Amino acid sequence: MQTINHITHLREAVDDLREQGKIALVPTMGALHDGHLTLVREAKKYAPHVVVSIFVNPTQFGPNEDLDAYPRQLERDKALLESEGVALLWAPDGAEMYPGGFATSITVAGVSEGLCGASRPGHFDGVATVVCKLFNQVRPDVALFGEKDWQQLAVIRRMARDLDLILPHAGNIIGIPTVRESDGLAMSSRNAYLSPANRQAAARLNQAMREAIARIERGEDVAATLAWLEQQLLAAGFASVDYASLADAESLALLPGTPQRPARLLVAARIGQTRLIDNMAVEARI
Ligand code: PAF
Repeated sequence: MQTINHITHLREAVDDLREQGKIALVPTMGALHDGHLTLVREAKKYAPHVVVSIFVNPTQFGPNEDLDAYPRQLERDKALLESEGVALLWAPDGAEMYPGGFATSITVAGVSEGLCGASRPGHFDGVATVVCKLFNQVRPDVALFGEKDWQQLAVIRRMARDLDLILPHAGNIIGIPTVRESDGLAMSSRNAYLSPANRQAAARLNQAMREAIARIERGEDVAATLAWLEQQLLAAGFASVDYASLADAESLALLPGTPQRPARLLVAARIGQTRLIDNMAVEARI
């Protein structure tokens, strides 16, 4: 596996790979876990050459968020990617990604405004901008993202459609189902922050969401079910719930009643100092 830190070297390496076949990109912020490695394994089904990027993107962190504390484990990550047969690791530093004078930001209206966009102002501008740059730097045929960050995936697809991106085309932005721990907790680099007691309580998030989905799919009142879900999380030891919402799976418009189209239940909640997110499909009643 080649590890590259400079854009000029990246361009040469990508040109060489491209001569030999298609490229799939898995963008990450490192601190890799099985969720990321699943993306790498899935990527191999789409292209012979897998490029992984590791860049802890400062522009997607708010002033009071965990940028400094975000886990950084480059040597461990490299060994994992090597053992997965990754062709190239793109690991620029902040100055390479955002050279002096950098002044551009991409805002994707609508889909980035509610849910995490409401509680993390500017977060999705940072994500859309860095992902657009990563796409232009690597020019992958296919890019893969975890469905755990459902809103992020919707924002990136919207951006690719709206900006007529070619590599990758919006249709080649692939979402991969969330990888979960044995008790249902969605894998996340931030799970490492949880104390043992909070880690145990965090499992209630997925259980309560599944129970809420069963209620909604049975036709029970949506607002009452979301309020019940919030109560369940607070009773389990969560400190606060940023949102527990039912939304259209694609536009992320909030749904007040039983869904008539594919929908998603999305939750963000804080336990200790850690903010967890999760989302799951809700079947439409037609
Ligand atoms: O999901 C992530 O790890 C990040 O938001 C991403 C897509 C790599 C952009 O920094």
